[in-house]
Amino acid sequence: MSNHPEKPYNDIHLLPPKTEIETKAVLKLAIEANKALAELNFATKMLPDPTVLINTIPLQEAKASSEIENIVTTSDELFRASFTDNADVDSATKETLRYRQALKAGCEMLTAKPITTNMICEICSIIKNTEMNVRKVSGTQIKNVATDEVLYTPPEGEKVIRDLLSNWERFLNENTDFDPLVKMAVLHYQFEAIHPFLDGNGRTGRILNMLYLIQEGLLAYPVLYLSGYIIRNKADYYRLIRGVTADENWQDWIIYILQGIREASLETVQRIESISALMKQTYEDIKRLVPNVPAKEMNDLIFTQPYCRVKNIVDAGIAKRQTAMIYLKNLEDAGILESVKTGREVLFVNKKFLNFLIN
Ligand SMILES: Nc1ncnc2c1ncn2[C@@H]1O[C@H](COP(=O)(O)OP(=O)(O)OP(=O)(O)O)[C@@H](O)[C@H]1O
Ligand SMILES: [Mg+2]
Repeated sequence: MSNHPEKPYNDIHLLPPKTEIETKAVLKLAIEANKALAELNFATKMLPDPTVLINTIPLQEAKASSEIENIVTTSDELFRASFTDNADVDSATKETLRYRQALKAGCEMLTAKPITTNMICEICSIIKNTEMNVRKVSGTQIKNVATDEVLYTPPEGEKVIRDLLSNWERFLNENTDFDPLVKMAVLHYQFEAIHPFLDGNGRTGRILNMLYLIQEGLLAYPVLYLSGYIIRNKADYYRLIRGVTADENWQDWIIYILQGIREASLETVQRIESISALMKQTYEDIKRLVPNVPAKEMNDLIFTQPYCRVKNIVDAGIAKRQTAMIYLKNLEDAGILESVKTGREVLFVNKKFLNFLIN
């Protein structure tokens, strides 16, 4: 049954979908996507310190997500702000940083309990930096920003939305025969179609994708960079999500998401491989050019964050203040780090690493 775009979609279908969703084409692609995801997990575990990725790839995801809403922040600004906890960063950067904060919080919550409606509210509240709850008032619509045409009107009424979310939550947590990646695609559609909040549904939904894969044991760290794919193929994303609503066209939507998982995983694997190679090279350079510096410890440190300062070396227990300063200076002289002044502070940038992360 199709739905008029301007009419609240209160009779949205409950999960699971009634039609056959695991077609031959879907299953074939699901195998590919699972394989790529497994490669990503493998690559992630190969890194000496996976926090390299936790600190950075979600930041990229954050930047990309905000781009969907045209919040423009430069990557460098973003990295620097996340590193320095600077209070005077602009509001766009702050909003972007909250995405990562929400992702981290979600991962922590997952260690205690499976995904629930309350958890979703908490995640959206962090993203929006204000208490978010299920919509109580009517009037939320998804419009084409250029033409103001109403594309979709989500269900209305707090009870209706809560019941739909319970159905969503139950389907998410129950054992089914569906491939988990196919299930993720279905859950993502349904979450966006329920559209429980006044704002932040897209970002919350994309975080939920990762949390779901972690809960299913398919992703070890929240590093699936799916937003990049969605941004590159945004017109398709909007067209296909509408296709499910209008024509129950699950197949094309699921295929789109599976292709995204595959592409995003392989992209990140490549990124990890580049970082890993750079790390090895830099380690050799430090040993050769700056033999007084503890190569292993310093190398690990300057690949944890693209920025480094004296305090990080002291906190990591590598050296005392005075010596730490000398290490940084020596690494700068050898061309491995570059110093930049921000306010009263001097930061040492691992430029090559930063470039791998933001390009
Ligand atoms: N026709 C549609 N039906 C259901 N959901 C849709 C439709 N079109 C877009 N969406 C979802 O709505 C999201 C936007 O909603 P909202 O503004 O609440 O989220 P956001 O996090 O603020 O924005 P964004 O996703 O753009 O970063 C999109 O990301 C998409 O997932
Ligand atoms: Mg929005």
